[in-house]
Amino acid sequence: MNSIKNYIENNKDRFLNELVDLLKIPSVSADSAFEKEVHATAEMVKAQLEKAGCNTVEICQTDGYPIVYGEKIIDADLPTILVYGHYDVQPADPIELWTSPPFEPVIKTTDKHPEGAIFARGACDDKGQMYMHVKALEFMTATNQLPCNVKFMIEGEEEVGSVNLGVFVKNNQEKLKNDVILISDTGMIANDIPSITTGLRGLSYVEVEVTGPNRDLHSGLYGGAVANPINVLTKMIASLQDDNNHINIPGFYDGVEELSREERDEMAKAPFSLENYKKALDIDDVYGEKGYTTNERNSIRPTLDVNGIWGGYTGEGAKTVIASKAYAKISMRLVPNQDWETITELFKTHFESIAPAGVTVKVTPHHGGQGYVTPTTSVGYQAASMAYNDTFGKKPIPQRSGGSIPIVALFEEELKSKTILMGFGLDSDAIHSPNEHFGVFNYLKGIETIPLFYKYFTELSK
Ligand code: BES
Ligand code: MN
Ligand code: MN
Repeated sequence: MNSIKNYIENNKDRFLNELVDLLKIPSVSADSAFEKEVHATAEMVKAQLEKAGCNTVEICQTDGYPIVYGEKIIDADLPTILVYGHYDVQPADPIELWTSPPFEPVIKTTDKHPEGAIFARGACDDKGQMYMHVKALEFMTATNQLPCNVKFMIEGEEEVGSVNLGVFVKNNQEKLKNDVILISDTGMIANDIPSITTGLRGLSYVEVEVTGPNRDLHSGLYGGAVANPINVLTKMIASLQDDNNHINIPGFYDGVEELSREERDEMAKAPFSLENYKKALDIDDVYGEKGYTTNERNSIRPTLDVNGIWGGYTGEGAKTVIASKAYAKISMRLVPNQDWETITELFKTHFESIAPAGVTVKVTPHHGGQGYVTPTTSVGYQAASMAYNDTFGKKPIPQRSGGSIPIVALFEEELKSKTILMGFGLDSDAIHSPNEHFGVFNYLKGIETIPLFYKYFTELSK
């Protein structure tokens, strides 16, 4: 494509500064204390989409945070790409573990990013990756090279389950009509090993509450004679996995697709160093389901993890007490063919059934979504592969990811189009963790690669 490299070189500082401005607003969707900031971020995204060349941009209200919708339609006979991303971010806590404040972006170098990375909450997930698309559009319109129609749908509730986006999509099928959906909200293997995400896991997220006696008790007077909800809860949780780390919930694996030996061998060809993996996490060994490799465990296999557990006395010093209640938040990552609502029901039934006499158990479902796999034979995948080949000088590797973007399966169901996941983050970018960052190389490479996707997708669609 004409002059994309020059265009980036000439506008690099502005591209970075605009992203910094976006990152300064704490658009934390999970915490209502940031309500004003989430709305302000939507306004900023709207303004930038207008500047980048969209014909119309609107803020679409929902029962939660708004969706920013923009489009540039140049010819109804040309293909239409729908870009999806999110402007909301995860909470920044624990704040004390950040080396610089989460909403005061700074560029620092790291081992993986010798040319610098922007440190801020949302830098990689997803403001930085979403904004690559805005700048790619700017380039294409400014240089008169937009080859097809484009629609943008940027939401503010991805990190809390996209509940209102689902309603919006169902009610706006005609408006959102497209030939392919393009998302940058995933990762790639390494800066010199490009990859395209071909799968996402589904999710079922539940909260459990175990109640014992009607009040906190003296652990000497009552200890040993009544059920301790914390002891019981931890026993119940431990029983959910067997010695091979296989999940014990009846029916949990029904329908789970077993990959063929060939497919697994193909997967194993992706470059991966177990030594480096362990070193990066300071662990002396990996842990997981027997019979599967680390990369299989974190992508093609379902899991069950406790995300939080609390109850009783956790303050300074000691307090001899048996708590009345204990709680946990549990997530299950699912693979295609596992229906998240069915899994949630199976969990609830099983968890209630294993509660011993002396306690009551309450299971509250939070949110969830289906997994997703996309073929490498589609026009969209081929176009993406050609685009990466041009900008990285090598063919990208298809790779199934362990993360979830629940709305993707719903897109396919409602809008009947395939999603292409062109992610430019690295696993080491610390998304959801303290010190999240996004490589300057990755940001600019994304801006460079996206217009080529437009070009090849339009050509291949003819
Ligand atoms: N962008 C992530 C998902 C992701 C990251 C997928 C890296 C693949 C590679 C997204 O913002 C996210 O965090 N999703 C949540 C689920 C959501 C319902 C809160 C997740 O995966 O935990
Ligand atoms: Mn994301
Ligand atoms: Mn996220």
